[in-house]
Amino acid sequence: MSSEQVSSTSASSVQTITLGATGPTVTALGIGTWAWGDKLFWGYGNQYGETELQAAFEAAIAAGITFFDTAEVYGLGESERILGRFMAQSETPIQIATKYFPLPWRFSPSAVADTLTASLTRLDTTSVALYQVHWPLEFLMGQRKLMEALANEVKRGRIQSVGVSNYSAEQMTKAHQYLESFGVPLAVNQMQYSLLARQIETNGVFDAAKKLGVTILAYSPLAQGLLTGKYRADQYNQPVGARRLDPRFSEAGLRKLEPLLAELRAIAQAHDKTPAQVALNWVIAQGALPIPGAKNAKQAQQNAGALGWSLEQPEIQRLSDLSNKVV
Ligand SMILES: NC(=O)c1ccc[n+]([C@@H]2O[C@H](COP(=O)([O-])OP(=O)(O)OC[C@H]3O[C@@H](n4cnc5c(N)ncnc54)[C@H](OP(=O)(O)O)[C@@H]3O)[C@@H](O)[C@H]2O)c1
Repeated sequence: MSSEQVSSTSASSVQTITLGATGPTVTALGIGTWAWGDKLFWGYGNQYGETELQAAFEAAIAAGITFFDTAEVYGLGESERILGRFMAQSETPIQIATKYFPLPWRFSPSAVADTLTASLTRLDTTSVALYQVHWPLEFLMGQRKLMEALANEVKRGRIQSVGVSNYSAEQMTKAHQYLESFGVPLAVNQMQYSLLARQIETNGVFDAAKKLGVTILAYSPLAQGLLTGKYRADQYNQPVGARRLDPRFSEAGLRKLEPLLAELRAIAQAHDKTPAQVALNWVIAQGALPIPGAKNAKQAQQNAGALGWSLEQPEIQRLSDLSNKVV
């Protein structure tokens, strides 16, 4: 992302970013909604439900955040349905990024159109800001055909921009070339990126994205909660859902992360911010657009507070150095 793509406006408004070279302009932080309706991984319906999510949605808007990331597969369509219900009750224009999953039986371009129609119906809208291919899976429909079908949807006006997700540098470059041949630029590659997942810095994805003018959307920017400081070895508490199986959330795993978590707490204190806000600000400083998940109003409001201020260069460096030591 080039610096001119980031515009910081007056104190009352929120930083925005243009997706790719010519895509829509969205807030420089989005809200991820994988946990919205997802029982399997996140335990939706157990400690949080639609009431808490509506409060999160409203808190995000109150803080100026109007960009939400979802996918057809989240909660088997429930995430899109929930967002659709919330948007219908809101007067604020919302920008949605959703995703197409390349399932083996989706082999004809009409599958793209039908899948998008189903997402738009669940979202109760006529178009989305960004439509992303969730994974670079290839069965009977090749990437060229897929990109042509997506470019056609841009021309039909049902999507404003095209993105991919989890694409390697080579796959992203190829997708960019195909789309370009149909007159549409690739706007986004959505990748896992945080202080605990920095692979895109060394595997060529970040460099290629910068060269091509593709915006990196950073998913799991809080490392699924690890970087919020809420999970600690000295006051051990387990996360809910499938994260219990992740060794990084074990007592020993958290002890290993403690030098980084301690630094996040110290920097947060110095800026009167929270560790989550510092971790998200670090992602923004690298030139990516974070889409942290939020299950309630407090989390949404806090995550929105990652915008509007900047870490000092030595702080960014200290966090980067420590992150290299703990992963
Ligand atoms: N393209 C892909 O393949 C892909 C893959 C994964 C995710 N994503 C997208 O990226 C989004 C974000 O990623 P993610 O949900 O995996 O991880 P994340 O944003 O790193 O972490 C989200 C979790 O951290 C906790 N949390 C968030 N903000 C907090 C705060 N301020 N204070 C304390 N705890 C907080 C919440 O869980 P607890 O309260 O339970 O701890 C929340 O569900 C997803 O919602 C989805 O839209 C995309």
